[in-house]
Amino acid sequence: MTINNVMVIGAGQMGAGIAQVFARAGVDVKLNDLKQEALDKGLAGIEKRLARAVEKGRMTSEEQDTAFHHLSGTTNIEDAADCDLVIEAVVENMEVKTKVFQQLDGITPEHTILASNTSSLPITEIAAATKRPSQVIGMHFMNPVPVMKLVEIIRAIQTSAETFEAIKDMTNRLEKTPVEVNDFPGFVSNRILMPMINEAIYTVYEGVASPEDVDTVMKLGMNHPMGPLALADFIGLDTCLYIMEVLYDGFGDSKYRPCPLLRKYVKAGWLGKKSGRGFYTYE
Ligand code: NAI
Repeated sequence: MTINNVMVIGAGQMGAGIAQVFARAGVDVKLNDLKQEALDKGLAGIEKRLARAVEKGRMTSEEQDTAFHHLSGTTNIEDAADCDLVIEAVVENMEVKTKVFQQLDGITPEHTILASNTSSLPITEIAAATKRPSQVIGMHFMNPVPVMKLVEIIRAIQTSAETFEAIKDMTNRLEKTPVEVNDFPGFVSNRILMPMINEAIYTVYEGVASPEDVDTVMKLGMNHPMGPLALADFIGLDTCLYIMEVLYDGFGDSKYRPCPLLRKYVKAGWLGKKSGRGFYTYE
């Protein structure tokens, strides 16, 4: 199957980055958001990042023009009617996501593949909410999307081999590396990353070491580019807690129990970088 027209639903942090890499790869892409303001912000962010790439000599101005030529914005989801692939990147909420998928199921042609960028929700359940479960798949990009090379491709139990192959080919066209993963809580990335972050928080909670020292051990001792607590602040502590809950509920294993200190920070509104305070403080 050839994918020529794509829509990305949700023009936030992830959606705008995803639209950018499609446009850059020469694929026609429409960025969609419910709110005009969010759409404008998403498109302005893409414009700024592409202009910076030209300034830094990573892209020619002709390539920048070509990328713009492939990109458009819309607040009307009905514009997905001519798309071969739609990627959903709205808020991490099952009810909202299934509503979007059911809407898309009614709007798009029969052949269209519906993908979700969810970082933790079961693709199998999203697929079951549509009339085309074999054409539903997870396409999990990493943040920041234009920089990170990995795309986790998550097969729901219903996903067909044809759908998987089409998404794998598309990922290669974006010059990213696809990794095939089956649909279990946290997939691979967050199943391994989040318990490490949670354990780092337990280490602080139990008074073993300060946040700075935990991060220094992991950076200088394990060669991680960023310590787990700085990374947790960057991801958002509410998101980290949410994913730990998904792992804990999904496996019913106490090894995934979210650290009480993580819960306390989230209750205090200390969500990390976005709120100005987490394990570190931000301007
Ligand atoms: P965000 O909050 O920055 O953006 C979400 C956007 O979706 C907002 O602009 C909102 O107006 C829009 N939206 C909400 N409902 C909508 C609807 N029904 N139709 C159209 N637009 C709608 O969120 P972010 O961080 O971009 O996350 C999006 C998804 O990507 C989530 O599922 C998240 O779990 C996943 N993800 C996030 C990562 C991260 O580091 N932030 C990494 C990988 C995946």
